[in-house]
Amino acid sequence: MWSSDWSSRCATTRTTGTNCHINITQSSALRRLQVPRKPHTVRLYNNRRRSIAVRMAMAEAEAKEDTTMAGSGGKSREELNKGIAELYDESSGIWEDIWGDHMHHGYYDPSQNASLSQHRSAQIRMIEEALRFAAVTDDSSKIPKSIVDVGCGIGGSSRYLAKKYGATTQGITLSPKQAQRAQALAASEGLADKAFFQVADALDQPFEDGQFNLVWSMESGEHMPDKKKFVSELVRVAAPGATIIIVTWCHRDLSASEESLRPDENELLKKICDAYYLPAWCSAADYVEILQSLSLQDIKAEDWSQYVAPFWPAVIRSALTWKGITSLLRSGWKTIKGALAMPLMIEGYKKDLIKFAIITCRKPE
Ligand SMILES: C[S@@+](CC[C@H](N)C(=O)[O-])C[C@H]1O[C@@H](n2cnc3c(N)ncnc32)[C@H](O)[C@@H]1O
Repeated sequence: MWSSDWSSRCATTRTTGTNCHINITQSSALRRLQVPRKPHTVRLYNNRRRSIAVRMAMAEAEAKEDTTMAGSGGKSREELNKGIAELYDESSGIWEDIWGDHMHHGYYDPSQNASLSQHRSAQIRMIEEALRFAAVTDDSSKIPKSIVDVGCGIGGSSRYLAKKYGATTQGITLSPKQAQRAQALAASEGLADKAFFQVADALDQPFEDGQFNLVWSMESGEHMPDKKKFVSELVRVAAPGATIIIVTWCHRDLSASEESLRPDENELLKKICDAYYLPAWCSAADYVEILQSLSLQDIKAEDWSQYVAPFWPAVIRSALTWKGITSLLRSGWKTIKGALAMPLMIEGYKKDLIKFAIITCRKPE
């Protein structure tokens, strides 16, 4: 398992003895951010280079007009967003029917065998573990009062956080059906004046600068065709001192001797991308590097793959029940294609190619 804590110079990693030094050079893509970046030597939890996927994606973004986004498999940003919106319009009802209002992995004790109700608890635990990892305090004078939920699904995290902290939440999704359902659920739970939802693009958020004390992105980053723009928007809308939490699918970090993933790994990811409307993947190290380039503080990342292992087998089991099969047949081709690709996710985790990552940081005061 990799782990890093950039603010404390990889204290966690030092204890496992796996860290080493690497010189990170300022890439042209990062220079384009126009963020002053200190020349420095940083410690990475593994001696690795910027992932080729991100380098290629950024170079591609540089070379093309804004309408065709990096790493989106030749799709324009509009085409990708349309596919994502349709996928979630089509599949959110059946997911909610079987799994409830959280469209994310559960967090389990390693090797836990869980029943459906325990899976739902594990999804709540995922939220709590993410808050704990990011050191979001329960101290009433410091709890987040204004939260943005970027890629909100049907608003499960938003409503949970609104209740937990008494906060006002703003959720954005590409799917009109999700936004509508999220708002209806908020009303039915007495949160109509606390939790708000709208259709909007995370890469162009409809919010003023510096509004939110907690910026939350639970399993939406993997859909973003321009990771740098995605992170820049999260940082832009964060208030000074705000916590930013990104929980997302990544590919493994590259070793020092690697320029890219292996062809068989790329092939597997491509099949998953086709099924779930994902652009090119990046590693957690790539996210860390982007955050560093933006001078964020307390940057931490951890691989939680071992804690989510029971999730996909459980989703497959639920799809193979009578209710699962009949719901799938009624849903639509995009949902069926997604269901057929589920074993590929298990394969990716088993091959140590897919990593379930949490990356957190704080915006300077
Ligand atoms: C797997 S769901 C996660 C939902 C939610 N965060 C949860 O944990 O229940 C991915 C979500 O990301 C949203 N999403 C993907 N790309 C987006 C974008 N560019 N802008 C806004 N939302 C996006 C989708 O619409 C969907 O709601």
